[in-house]
Amino acid sequence: MEFIPNVDEAKRFVHSYGFYSNYSAAYIVTNEFLHDSMQYVPKNCNKALVTAASGDHPLFCSLYGAKHVDTFDISYNAKCIMDIKTAAMKCLNHSEYLDLLCKLYDCRDVTRVPNMDKIANNLSPTEYKYMCSMLGYALFSNRQLRNKNDKFLISQQDYEKLQKIVKKPYNFTMTNIGRLGTHLTESYDFIHLSNILDYMEGSAYRFLIVSRLFNHVNVGGRIISANMRGKKWPDSFPTAEIEKSIEGYKDSLNRYTNVDDFLKESMVKSKQELEQMRQVFKNWRYNKITDFVNDIVVFERIR
Ligand SMILES: C[S@@+](CC[C@H](N)C(=O)[O-])C[C@H]1O[C@@H](n2cnc3c(N)ncnc32)[C@H](O)[C@@H]1O
Repeated sequence: MEFIPNVDEAKRFVHSYGFYSNYSAAYIVTNEFLHDSMQYVPKNCNKALVTAASGDHPLFCSLYGAKHVDTFDISYNAKCIMDIKTAAMKCLNHSEYLDLLCKLYDCRDVTRVPNMDKIANNLSPTEYKYMCSMLGYALFSNRQLRNKNDKFLISQQDYEKLQKIVKKPYNFTMTNIGRLGTHLTESYDFIHLSNILDYMEGSAYRFLIVSRLFNHVNVGGRIISANMRGKKWPDSFPTAEIEKSIEGYKDSLNRYTNVDDFLKESMVKSKQELEQMRQVFKNWRYNKITDFVNDIVVFERIR
């Protein structure tokens, strides 16, 4: 069933910079070196799952050979910009596409952007109606884009390749990354989490979030996480930190006997998950790559 966006809520949350929510403003273009991290798309990758973000993650993933790409994001605006990009590929040339992105950046009335009428024909009516209802609000105002020379924009050659490959919009799941696994019904050869986990404290917690996706990755498959905000990932699996977190949960559960049921349940669940991760992690190779401008970590399922 199609998600129906709540315009009043969107107007309240779209400008809350630095805080991601269901309607936080989307990035207009990536700020990651996706040519580097997408090299980790495995050969013969049948299915991939990536952050929708600015729409560039799924596009680069298709470019690097994934046959089917699904997407997720906490924000509905990420779906909008991603769908605008795939729709634009059907009717605009590269130069028009770049022009469109420059005009959409920080734009407060999508109907005034040249070529949006053509693009609207290839968007879901619900989605386009939502964009039009957000008159006065900048849906795509994250990551400045001033001109067509931005080095993160898709090149003409790649754009033309993508026009042949990408024939329909990418499937989208609107979810917080912590709950992503509960929405998945299939398994993947490649998952790219952008740098979402940068916003989470503690490597034990970040490992926990990644481990919730372990059951959804085929043997030989990979999960990538970028690091762009200086929150360094450990060089190897953080055994000591995981043990400390487990002990921390045990201690809290013993001490806080009166905590409310929801909190208690989530503490028990996190403790069990951490214990499980200790075991399951034996099936994974963990590698931190530091050659790139931004670190990335690669989890590879070996058995
Ligand atoms: C972390 S941001 C950073 C931009 C990114 N480096 C890029 O190149 O687009 C990427 C995307 O993650 C989404 N996001 C942030 N926190 C999230 C969360 N907890 N769960 C799911 N998606 C999230 C944002 O809505 C945004 O579209």
